[in-house]
Amino acid sequence: MQDVSPDFLSALNLQEDAPDPCIIVVFGASGDLTKRLLIPSLFNLYCDGLLPDFFAILGMAMDDYTTESFRVRMSTDVQKYSRQEQFDETAWANFCDRIHYLQARFDDADAFVQLKALLQTLDTRYSTDSNVLFYMATPPAVFGMISSGLESIGMNAENEGWRRIIVEKPFGMDLSSALSLNEEILSYWKEQQVYRIDHYLGKETVQNLLAFRFANGMFEPLWNRTHIDHIQITATEQVGVEWRGGYYDKSGVMRDMIQNHLFQMMAYLCMEPPTTFDPEAIRNEKYKLLSAVRILKPEEVRYHAVRGQYDEGVNLDGSPAKAYRDEHLVDPHSNTETYAALKLRIDNWRWHGVPVFLRSGKGLRTKSTEIVVQFRRAPEFTFRGTPASSQLEANQLIFRIQPNEGIEIRFLAKRPGPSMHMRKVNMNFEYDEAFSAHPGTGYETMLYDCMRGDASLFSRSDLVETSWRIVQPVLDVWGEERARDFPNYPFGSWGPKAAFSLPSPDHRRWLARTPKQALERVPMFEGSSKTMINAFAMMLKPVVFNAGDEIARLGTEGRELYIIEMGSVDVIDPEGNVVTTLSGGQVFGELSLLVTKERRASVRAVTYCALYMMEKRDFCKVLMDRPHFAQKLMQVARERYNVIVDAHEWLDSEG
Ligand code: BG6
Repeated sequence: MQDVSPDFLSALNLQEDAPDPCIIVVFGASGDLTKRLLIPSLFNLYCDGLLPDFFAILGMAMDDYTTESFRVRMSTDVQKYSRQEQFDETAWANFCDRIHYLQARFDDADAFVQLKALLQTLDTRYSTDSNVLFYMATPPAVFGMISSGLESIGMNAENEGWRRIIVEKPFGMDLSSALSLNEEILSYWKEQQVYRIDHYLGKETVQNLLAFRFANGMFEPLWNRTHIDHIQITATEQVGVEWRGGYYDKSGVMRDMIQNHLFQMMAYLCMEPPTTFDPEAIRNEKYKLLSAVRILKPEEVRYHAVRGQYDEGVNLDGSPAKAYRDEHLVDPHSNTETYAALKLRIDNWRWHGVPVFLRSGKGLRTKSTEIVVQFRRAPEFTFRGTPASSQLEANQLIFRIQPNEGIEIRFLAKRPGPSMHMRKVNMNFEYDEAFSAHPGTGYETMLYDCMRGDASLFSRSDLVETSWRIVQPVLDVWGEERARDFPNYPFGSWGPKAAFSLPSPDHRRWLARTPKQALERVPMFEGSSKTMINAFAMMLKPVVFNAGDEIARLGTEGRELYIIEMGSVDVIDPEGNVVTTLSGGQVFGELSLLVTKERRASVRAVTYCALYMMEKRDFCKVLMDRPHFAQKLMQVARERYNVIVDAHEWLDSEG
């Protein structure tokens, strides 16, 4: 189906290369991947006019479906999982007519004979030029069995038409199984026929990393250790393991996300510029980058890697969420990590001395994938003798991969007024403001490219093996030493406390996530303008405490305010009595932002606490431009603590 005439597109020079006619065979078609991602993505391509005019889809699996009943099931599921704003019933009816199903076991030789006959029938009926794309939506354990079945009917040879296979991740479970799997697959297929999928590379925002770096002359000269201090790559998920406990309990997040998706993003972000946009040139550079990652020694794993496993907690809607160990098909004593954070070093000239911090997890507070490139701070000598000399902060470049896709640059600007004060400000690019297209799942691009024979976005075997080499020492140590503190973070939280100390020995810290929403919940900030919330949000720093931890000590001088994102704290008076208990959306320490006095109470975490911290010096920077807000705060101080604050004296003391 074409909404827009091809002539019009070609006049605009936007005509895409049409993929070749083909049949797409999905092995394991009754599984979740097919209904959640493959069929919706193929349908999205169809609606965008990006499927070939001549195509058919054939699902093959053990489950008891006929073509008719399979179509009915797909019709129900596609409405659930399609990301289309308006579901096009007519288009679906036409698309659905081309879906077929074959019930079969993968170890049944007769089934493959049946498959061959069916492929011939469909080829004639849909004029697909004998091209076939085989999608292995199955566990890796059966890739070999399926390949052998296809070989037995001659379907791996490319005598007539092309034959390609898409292999889903995880590609192996560790380095040695990945090597064996590669060997097994390559005994049936040529490397050019094998498309190892990583759907993150199909995401527009991930591909845009290449455009950003290599199509814009202004950034490349800065892209090195002289200017960049460190890099953070984060991919968090709200969901737990859902129905995939059986698979996940053998994987964990290091295998499921970091070894593939996060490493791919790191490779795009850090590789050398390829000399051409040719698939091999790009893959060569990615390989070189990953090969330069320093392999951790077993004794370093403890300092460079943190693991976590979620405990029971709450979903966003407040309903209770299970602990990982209570999930379906998960071992009740499981040692599998649902969260991991890792510090890597890249041993090449460009990145020497620039750490890359990666983290990912399930059962967290937000779903978000983000890359932060933190630049080195400018030297302060120019501003010596002015307030700005103590206000300098590093610039940050933030790639929001998903959601709210965009790019943000944070830098310092002079605050209007007679003296030289600096404050952090930002420039923001939002995808959906600049372009009308909606980001897909990533699978659309991958399927489309495979049908066109463009392997740029797929992993070569050497890339996959190198990625395993990097994580192998961590997997080995974690496999040998059981985690004594599991479960160590509640479902719906920010992850384990230890992950927050990973960057800190180097005086670095993770960038705060979604602090704007946190601020909006706090009554003190009620009615504040968007720009003011934004200004404060950039100042917030995330900190995590476990139940029983002392957050603020009686008698010490406080210079920060805390906003409780989740959890609860007790405020304890000098006699040891709990004066009050504060929880999500409440703040404490606000007085210390206004007056420099010893704390009159201690604050202790009752439960796991995720807090945003705002330091007095940052707070003052924002407040200087917002005198009315300062007034409001002073009123709070008067009413709550009977403290009278002299604004001028206070601002001068911070200036
Ligand atoms: C998959 C993992 O590769 O990526 C899943 O197996 C994970 O566990 C998913 O949920 C995340 O993908 P996305 O596109 O939702 O970020």
